[in-house]
Amino acid sequence: MRALKIVCLTLLLAAMPVAATASGAAAHLDKAPVNLQDMASLQRGAKLFTSRCLACHGAVSMRYNRLKDIGMSDEEIKKKLELPDDVKVGSTMQAAMDPNSAKLAYGVAPPDLSVISRSRSADWLYTYLRSFHTDKTRASGWNNTVFPNVGMPHVMADLQGELELKTENQGGHELKKLVLVNPGSLKPAEYDAAVADLTNYLVFMGEPAKMVRYQLGMVVLGFLLVLFVLLFTLKKELWKDIH
Ligand code: HEC
Repeated sequence: MRALKIVCLTLLLAAMPVAATASGAAAHLDKAPVNLQDMASLQRGAKLFTSRCLACHGAVSMRYNRLKDIGMSDEEIKKKLELPDDVKVGSTMQAAMDPNSAKLAYGVAPPDLSVISRSRSADWLYTYLRSFHTDKTRASGWNNTVFPNVGMPHVMADLQGELELKTENQGGHELKKLVLVNPGSLKPAEYDAAVADLTNYLVFMGEPAKMVRYQLGMVVLGFLLVLFVLLFTLKKELWKDIH
């Protein structure tokens, strides 16, 4: 029984995902429900990313045809993502706007997002994309509680609606709160789900080898399990006559 316990414990430990905590930011971050096994979510995220983000940001280490890893065929990549005729599925994801014009327009060049989930954590991205609020003092009209004075406008305001940062007095404490003042086309929970898909996709993009590692991990675990059953049966067989 002791051996069984040890093997079970080892398997359990091996199966535990390594928690990536790289926040360190002052603002409270919500937990991003990342699930790289959820192909439908990753595909919705890819669609949002190409339709909403590639206008300004590129993802030059990402080729469209790598979306095969999330279950899309060449045909689907072309059709669902509405690729223009001059963009091939083998092309890298380029920004529509050139960096110089973007810098002129927003004061900062939009950074490449290929590996953004490594420099900013998934939780950071998930919270950032849900924390834009109106601010009349900013040229863009927008600000963000996670990234103060950000140069990026709220590009999904039509979906989320407009949030305002309000100060509430709670028992002598000043509490800042984001309040929805003008609804968008999505309900708050639907918007959260859409941003979860997008975050999921950004994590996938930043960790090209992760899917392969997951699959390999499963194979290894399966192998260990089979080995364990075999050894256990063998042990029982060998000890049969001794007991
Ligand atoms: C209209 C142009 C524009 C669009 C569209 C846009 N962004 Fe941005 N984004 C910017 C600019 C400009 C910055 C740089 C802001 C700064 O440094 O102040 C930025 C910054 C960011 C950052 C912070 C990068 C960092 O770590 O400094 C993230 C993350 C980001 N964008 C994600 C997205 C995502 C996801 C989308 C699609 C939903 C998107 N952006 C769409 C212009 C854009």
